[in-house]
Parts: sequence; structure tokens; C-alpha cells
Amino acid sequence: MIRSLQHVGLTVPDQEIGRAFYETFGLVSSVVGDDLVFRCDGRNQDQVRLMSGPQKKLSYISLGVGEGELKGWKARLEQHDVNLSDGTFGLELDGIWFQDPDGGWIHLSEAQSEPSRIVKPQEFNTPGSYRRIGTRACSIESLGKRANPLRLGHLIKFSPDVSRQVVFYTDVLGMKVSDRAGDILAFLYSAAGGDHHMIAFAKSSHPGLHHLSFEVGDLDEIALGASNLLNHGYKSAFGMGRHVAGSNYFHYIRDPWNSLCEYFWDIDIIPEGGSGWVPLDASPEQLTAVWATTPPPPDFIMNFEER
Ligand SMILES: [Fe+2]
Repeated sequence: MIRSLQHVGLTVPDQEIGRAFYETFGLVSSVVGDDLVFRCDGRNQDQVRLMSGPQKKLSYISLGVGEGELKGWKARLEQHDVNLSDGTFGLELDGIWFQDPDGGWIHLSEAQSEPSRIVKPQEFNTPGSYRRIGTRACSIESLGKRANPLRLGHLIKFSPDVSRQVVFYTDVLGMKVSDRAGDILAFLYSAAGGDHHMIAFAKSSHPGLHHLSFEVGDLDEIALGASNLLNHGYKSAFGMGRHVAGSNYFHYIRDPWNSLCEYFWDIDIIPEGGSGWVPLDASPEQLTAVWATTPPPPDFIMNFEER
């Protein structure tokens, strides 16, 4: 069973421009061989690998399966006539490599999701249920608060054929659809349970990266992270708002190559096997937002990745 999104690999024309963006976003960088690797503070897991290349491209995604499962996965993939490779991009990572129907590379390995930094649960004074009595939610120290991403939660890939991708990721890779908008948009979660979506697909003329999304500790961190990026000259793409698909609060910022990076908080969690979860099939507009401070701009769903 695919249990985790381990990390993603991007090829970019200027790694230092990428370093500046992701560090301002709140990630921690290190040099690994010829690549820049980014992690979340306090989490022992790579999240983004920036490789050098002529143009910006989502190069691969790395997914984790359970211990001892890889042999079975090889057999399953071969049964579905999926070609397996020992490696690509010059990387020496344990596991197997193959391509999805759009040609997107997937790295599969026996890797578990490493624990994120622990965030102290907050009490909320919701009407009729006042839980925080005699304690401040904010103090002078709150003025020093900043976005500190906890983990890479999901990504959305552009696809020229969303339904074909859904068939592959469900029938072959065993994931499940949490919500969709026909053949325009589809959200998939791990059959092991977890976030409302680990990966999603949005219709486009060609493959590409729509966005990467990182969980933060609370709503404040979404706003503070976005403000900080805007103050550094990066562009807001959409937000703040709250999605219908996943229910999470969000703010999307343009990365230096016009893909998006999202802060999210309070996403729906689906139990193992999807017990009780009823997927929606609604319009893209219905799934996009309960509210947002501004409507999504027309270029929110534009694929800036070159073919
Ligand atoms: Fe997202």
C-alpha cells in the first residue's frame, strides 16, 4: 500500500533562486551532491530536491510503501505492463522507478513518513464551547511568530488526461478518490488513510506542476508566511481562503517559475479504507473554495511549465 508522499524532485535553471524562495517559505536547505535538498525544520525527511537543468520541471515524485512490500509492488507493476527502472536523474536512491501514463516519473521505496515537529494543540473559544478560559491565545511573543512548515502534504499535477491518471493511480497504485470534478480535477488519498489528498490532478494541455502544499501549525502561520513572501517580492496567487475539497485553509504563492507553493492548515483526514467517506463529484468552482479574500485569478489554473 502506498502510505506516504516522501518528497518531490524539481529541475530548475537556477538553484540559488530556488534556495532563496524555499528558505523564505520556511524550509531548511542543504547541499547533497549537485542538488539542493529542502526539509521542514525538525523533520528528518527530504521534501524537495532541486536539481539543475535547462528549464523548470516537475521531474519526479517519491512515494513510500510499507516495509517488505517492494517485491510485491514489482510483481504488481509488471503484471500491469509498467516498465521498471533501477534509477534515473543520476540519483542513487533505494527503490524502483517507473512512469505514470503522462510520463511522470515515480520513485517507490520502502520508506515511512517521518514524524513532524510536534505542535501544541490549541484550544478554541467557539460559540457555546468556550475552552480557553483565563489564558491568552496571543501575547507580545506572538508578534515574533512566523510560518514554520511541518511537512509536505500533497501536490497537484497538471495532466492532459485526468481520468487516465486516476485509473492508473487507483487501479494500479491502489489509491482512492476523495473528491473530483469529472475529468477536470481529481483528488486522491492513500488507502492507508490520512490527508484528504496526497496527490491530485488538474486538466491541462500538458503535464506540469500546479502546486506543492505544506502543512503549518495554524491559521496565523498561513497569513504570516504569505505576508513574509509578499514582503520579499514574491507574488500571491490565491488566498487566503478555505477549500471545499479537503476543507483546509490555504494561501498560494507563486514560486520563481510560476508554479505554486501552498500553506495549508486543518485538512480533512480520511480513515484507512475510506470508511464513511463519501466522495463528491462537483464542479471545479464548487470544490475550490467556501470563501477566499479574492476570487481565484484566471491564471490560477494556468500551466506555466514548458512541454
Ligand atoms: Fe493544495
